[in-house]
Amino acid sequence: GTTLGQSANERGRYFGAAITVGKMNDGTYMGIVDREFDSVVAENEMKMDATEPNQNQFNFTNGDRIVNYAIGKGKKVRGHTLAWHAQQPGWMQNMSGTALRNALINHVTRVATHYRGKIHSWDVVNEAFADGNSGGRRDSNLQRTGNDWIEAAFRAARAADPGAKLCYNDYNIDSINPKSTGVYNMVRDFKARGVPIDCVGFQSHFGTTIPGDYRSNLQRFADLGVDVQITELDIEQGSNQANAYRQVVEACLGVSRCTGITVWGVRDTDSWRTGANPLLFDGAGNKKPAYTSTLNAL
Ligand code: XIL
Repeated sequence: GTTLGQSANERGRYFGAAITVGKMNDGTYMGIVDREFDSVVAENEMKMDATEPNQNQFNFTNGDRIVNYAIGKGKKVRGHTLAWHAQQPGWMQNMSGTALRNALINHVTRVATHYRGKIHSWDVVNEAFADGNSGGRRDSNLQRTGNDWIEAAFRAARAADPGAKLCYNDYNIDSINPKSTGVYNMVRDFKARGVPIDCVGFQSHFGTTIPGDYRSNLQRFADLGVDVQITELDIEQGSNQANAYRQVVEACLGVSRCTGITVWGVRDTDSWRTGANPLLFDGAGNKKPAYTSTLNAL
């Protein structure tokens, strides 16, 4: 293929990008998105603060702009994200207990229902595990509603949109470490008990290098019977960014249940990681060496 999406497609994968409504009138930006990617995800527009700014008053305007663009262009859409400790609306931030649990389930149900049939994979829960060596959950208002909040969110998402793949998504789970093993144990438990989970998203926000056990870590999750996806890829520009991107593609292609890759932005100037130049296109929209190595590895 001659584009990332086309080439990934020939390998039975998708290749997506995070996009934002605020740039949808930037011709250079949209020209790249139109041409290169066969999947998109909203960088912020489907998060809890965006979709439910006031309790039980939902706003899908910006999320719909992204979904309708994608449908019009025949692109797939990832959903990000139904439940997260961050970017919660103000009204939710200080809630607790049964009221918060009920608000969470209502949120998951209403948002997943609105987008039913249009999302190929939902990040149902984002970043619920703690950094460091505990292997346990991150403390948050959601976690304090009870350890079963994650499975409750997944069950509500399945009921609302039975056709979407339901993912758990996190960072620093890209290698074999206590945090990724904590997630691994949760996924194994969910599969054993019939909690609906279909995929794990590996954010893959990398420094200048890729963990040596990246592929084997993806494989151990796939061996639990879930798909794996690389969901927020960006790699700090160092001496060998092109090689690092190639390694990521090779890791995904090396795991049959790795179904796709999403980069977290389009041009370096669009990245949330200021100064890292971690993406595939430079600020002018030109293809970087990392673009070429990614395309060639697909
Ligand atoms: C980031 C966005 O890129 C920024 O625009 C926003 O200000 C903060 O969130 N992990 C995630 C993403 O799951 O939602 C985050 O996106 C990046 C880290």
